[in-house]
Amino acid sequence: MGIPWIGETIDFCKAQRKNRLFEDFVQPRIQKYGKTFKTRLMGSPTVVVNGAEANKFFLSNEFKLVISSWPTSSVQLMGKDSIMEKQGDAHQCLRGIVATCLNSAGLEALVPKICKTVEAHMVKYWHGREKVSLYHLTKVLTFTIVLECLLGIEVKQGMLETFERVLEGVFALPVSFPGSKFSSAKRAREEIEKMLGDIIRINRKEMESLIRRRRRRRRRRRRDSTFSTSSSTYSWMLGHHPNCYSTLLQEHDDILRSKRPNEVLTYEDTKKMKYTWQVARESMRIFPPIFGSFRKAIDDIEYDGYTIPRGWKVLWTTYGTHYDEEYFQDPLSFNPGRFEELVQPYAFLPFGGGPRLCAGYQLAKLNILIFVHYVVTRYNWSLISPEESITIDPLPFPSQGMPIKISPKLA
Ligand code: HEM
Repeated sequence: MGIPWIGETIDFCKAQRKNRLFEDFVQPRIQKYGKTFKTRLMGSPTVVVNGAEANKFFLSNEFKLVISSWPTSSVQLMGKDSIMEKQGDAHQCLRGIVATCLNSAGLEALVPKICKTVEAHMVKYWHGREKVSLYHLTKVLTFTIVLECLLGIEVKQGMLETFERVLEGVFALPVSFPGSKFSSAKRAREEIEKMLGDIIRINRKEMESLIRRRRRRRRRRRRDSTFSTSSSTYSWMLGHHPNCYSTLLQEHDDILRSKRPNEVLTYEDTKKMKYTWQVARESMRIFPPIFGSFRKAIDDIEYDGYTIPRGWKVLWTTYGTHYDEEYFQDPLSFNPGRFEELVQPYAFLPFGGGPRLCAGYQLAKLNILIFVHYVVTRYNWSLISPEESITIDPLPFPSQGMPIKISPKLA
């Protein structure tokens, strides 16, 4: 378990930063101790579990045997009322609200809004340029889509930077001294709270005045007549696998040919992007945007011949299945065609699973498909630094922001 309190945290973070969490941390321990092994991370005794069976056991027993467990800094920054901190009925109630916005009618309505946002983004950041930073721009775009298309909040200058300051503190040590990442993140959180408060007050006033106007109109009538670890996925799938490009391009050219000039995509069009989604899934298999997450045992748990004591942490990881021959043949090769077949449940988990399956999964899927459509049908592109390294801290990002050379396609 390593040295007291710190345990194996340093090895874990080093492996993560080098983008070698599986090769340098998980795999050597699986070889030595088996698929279930114990360690100590950030002060907590932790059991790392691997494999589809383990994923199913722990993820589907959320609220019964385990609860999600975020570092103190994350809880303070996300707030006790965030969905990640809610349990049982309160969690189900919040999930219900998100599900209502992202049901098939909601998604159908979102597609033209996302298309307009991507088009405006391209005019602002791509048009007339020869070189762009794919990672940076996809981050700006994802942020804009979530705020403007999903939440109806207009993105103003500086907003993304403020949100990023909060994210930088989410996995930092929860110590507040001037200049620390955590205190800067706390200040950024206060700024966001104020900004959202102002927006809600303005919206409420507008809503109240709209209701008053409607009531007055109705009275008059009576008298007269007696409303998000995607940027890395976009970058990875577009940037690194030109060998699958011709099939992917064909798919989008076919869709483009079926549309009138300037006609935006529909939800039905996105359903035709089957190969693109296979490429995206394969990118997320090899390069999961989130490596896994922590749970806490709320009771003593018997698993795989061990007793995990109440209060211990459990870490499930995407690497435990994504790189395993048992689930994916020749796991290190990039082969989108493998997703033509059904994958064993709980073996492919970029979006997690069980009651805490990513709430924005469908939105992330639409973002990826629509953005790829606009890029590949409008631009020729090539990587400027094909050997660029990827770092994880704690989310993956390309060290130079994945610069690409672009030139517009002739209409
Ligand atoms: C490629 C993009 C994305 C990936 C790979 C991703 C991945 C994940 C994963 C692995 C989890 C589960 C964490 C756990 O089990 O502890 C999760 C949860 C969550 N995600 Fe995503 N996510 C993405 C995009 C989004 C977007 C765009 C949104 C919102 C618009 C979103 C909202 C959420 C929320 C609210 C949860 C918490 C769900 C809960 O606790 O019930 N995600 N995501």
